[in-house]
Formats: sequence, C-alpha cells, structure tokens
Amino acid sequence: MVPPTSANKPKMDKYAFIDQALTERKDKDQLRCLRTLVPDSSDPVIAYKKGRRMLNFCSNDYLGLSRHPRLKERAMDYARSHGCGATASRLVCGTFDIHSGLEAKLARHFEREAALVLNSGFQANSSLIGALAGRGALVLADKLSHNSLLQGALLSRATFRRYRHRDMADLERKLGGAGGRYERILIVTESIFSMDGDRSDVDRLVQLADKHQALLIVDDAHAVGVWGEQGMGLTAKKDGIDLVIGTFGKAYGSFGAFVLCSDRVKDYLINFCPGFIYTTALPPPVIGAIEAGLDLVPTMDQDRGYLQGLCDQVRARLRAMGFDTHSSSSQIIPILLGDERLTLSLSRWLELNGILATAIRPPTVEAGKSRIRIALSSCHTGEHIEYFLQVLRGWNGAKS
Ligand SMILES: Cc1ncc(COP(=O)(O)O)c(C=O)c1O
Repeated sequence: MVPPTSANKPKMDKYAFIDQALTERKDKDQLRCLRTLVPDSSDPVIAYKKGRRMLNFCSNDYLGLSRHPRLKERAMDYARSHGCGATASRLVCGTFDIHSGLEAKLARHFEREAALVLNSGFQANSSLIGALAGRGALVLADKLSHNSLLQGALLSRATFRRYRHRDMADLERKLGGAGGRYERILIVTESIFSMDGDRSDVDRLVQLADKHQALLIVDDAHAVGVWGEQGMGLTAKKDGIDLVIGTFGKAYGSFGAFVLCSDRVKDYLINFCPGFIYTTALPPPVIGAIEAGLDLVPTMDQDRGYLQGLCDQVRARLRAMGFDTHSSSSQIIPILLGDERLTLSLSRWLELNGILATAIRPPTVEAGKSRIRIALSSCHTGEHIEYFLQVLRGWNGAKS
C-alpha cells in the first residue's frame, strides 16, 4: 500500500461544512435568503417586488422619515459641504464639526450629560458591553434581548446569564445570588423588544440596578422617535440608566446609532470601545439626514398619536379575529402562530395579495413561537389596515 503523501492524499473539501449547514437549513425550510425590493421614492410603506406594488408591513420606518424631503435635502447639503466619506476613524481624522455638533445636539435633545455617535446599533451593542464588562464581570440580560446585545455579552468574556423575559423577580434572584463574586454587574435589556413588541419595566430595572450597584444598559432602539415626550423614548428623563442606546435606522429614517451617558462613560468608551475606535466615522450625508430627523421628530406629536392609536386598533381587531398578538404593547405586533409551516403559509398568502409581512421563525425565535411580525408606521392609512385585515380574513390556514 502506498502511504499517503501530500501529493496523493485526497483533497479535503474545505467548504463541506458550509454545504452541510446550508443543506440542514434548507431541509428544515429555514434557509434565510435576500429578497430584492425597490422602495417607492416618496411613499414609505410602498415597495416594488419584481415590478409588483407591495404594501409594506415589515419596515422599521415608524414615522416614514426615510423618504422625507428634508432628510434627502440635508443629506445632499452635507455631501456638498463635507463630501461623501468621513475618511477615517473618529480618533484619527474622522471627527468633523458635524459629528461633534450632532453629539452636542443629541445630549441637549435627550437631556443627558453626553452622547456618543456610533455607526450602527449592532456595532454599538456588540462592542460596548465588552468594553464595560470583561472577564471578572457578570452580565445579566433579558432572555429576549436583541442578538447584538447577546453578541456583546458573549464577546465580553464575562460570566453571562439570561433572566426570564421581563421577569424582575428572576433578575432580582440572580442579582442576589451574585453576592460580591464579580468585579461588576451589568444589566442589559431592551425597552421595547424587537420580536414581541412588549416592554421592559424600566422603573423597576432602575431600582434593582441601584440596589445592587449594577450598571444598567437599556436599548431604546424601537422606542426613540415613537414613544415618550417628543419621541424621546421610554427612557426619557429617567435617572439611573447608565447607558441608553438609540438607533437612527428606525424611526429616525436614516442610519447609525447613539449612546446617551455621562461625560465619564463617554470618555471611557472613546478610549476602550473597539466598535467606536476602529472604524471609519459615519459619512457626512448620513449625519445630514440624522440632523434633519432630529429636527423633525420632536414636532411629530400628531404622527405619534396617530400611530399609537393605530397600534391599539390593529391589536384589538386582530384579537377579535382570533389571532394571538402575544404581549405586544407597541408598533411591533406579532401574530403568533407557533407552527413554522403555518407561519410561512400565511406570509406567502399575504405576499400573494401584495402585502409584505415577514415570517419570523427559529432560529430567530424559539421553536413553537413562529409568527408573522408586523411593524406599523404613521404612514399606514385606515385603508391600508382594512385591506390587510381583509386579506388576513381570506386566509384559510388549515387548507394552505
Ligand atoms: C433592539 C435592537 N437593537 C439594535 C439593533 C441594531 O440596530 P442597527 O440596525 O442600527 O444596527 C436592532 C435592529 O434590528 C434592534 O432591534
């Protein structure tokens, strides 16, 4: 027998693991794939798929600002005055007057000591927890926290425990059990949860963080712009939250993220948060769009009132039709079906009838918790809602 040498050894397929993972997903009908849409140039809830006009119920453009003329104009103004790229990390030569100006404006608007702009919510969450936690720390996160927060906790190398979703008694037990064994404790949660659309008890979190001297980090991504006085979110004017995270990619209609904190924490993040240090700053047109969004959002009480009323109405109508909207109390409304195939069938039925509403299934949510997740916008009209409910009524889940 000829001993194997590097010349005659059969070549290992280095992509085998990729094929296997994708095949497994495909076999379970769980393969994620990208679908291309062309957004309407002016109507934020209309998009075109393969030329077909679709009514969009899955974007996070809660106030319809992504197509607002003032955002477009300011983005163009900033491109003209400052160019299209920030050219470097904020610490090298990428901090322009517009970046510092935006942070001062954010701190003023949200009535916090300081604000720091980061490039995305994912980048902020996945890197700032590591900067604040580290090996000797304990991170306690709500079980349904967004993946970016979970990545941050995992990357931090801290001891990481999840408390039961919105269960303050469970969090308190875990805090009590930590008893002096860690250098510090971080409590991490969202204010409005991205999949269930329900809310944290922020006041209780503040009390618990204070009692146990824990750092409290609240991701307000789905609340800023939509909830609270002048759209300041569900953390507005609440003391005792060490870091509030907000994003500009949802209600603010553009892109990027911010952290509201003290001057001390801001200085610390500038020095120790890799997702801030090692990346090119947000480009000027994006800063322009954010600025315009920040000017508009406080003036949009009427849009917020309309949207909040719409949320109550849609939830009530769905429940009356026998659908389970779970614990939603926001513009994010899950239609819980449990079964994956049933969920896919409803999503396809909706799409067949010109409605975009994503099927959310494992691994994004737990097995048995598949749902259609709709997100309402102040640009959805009564007619849009009636049409959506009519299509839902026409779905015969059992037959599909
Ligand atoms: C709660 C929450 N935090 C953070 C993010 C990430 O924000 P961004 O889209 O700015 O990366 C999301 C996005 O879906 C989210 O739902």
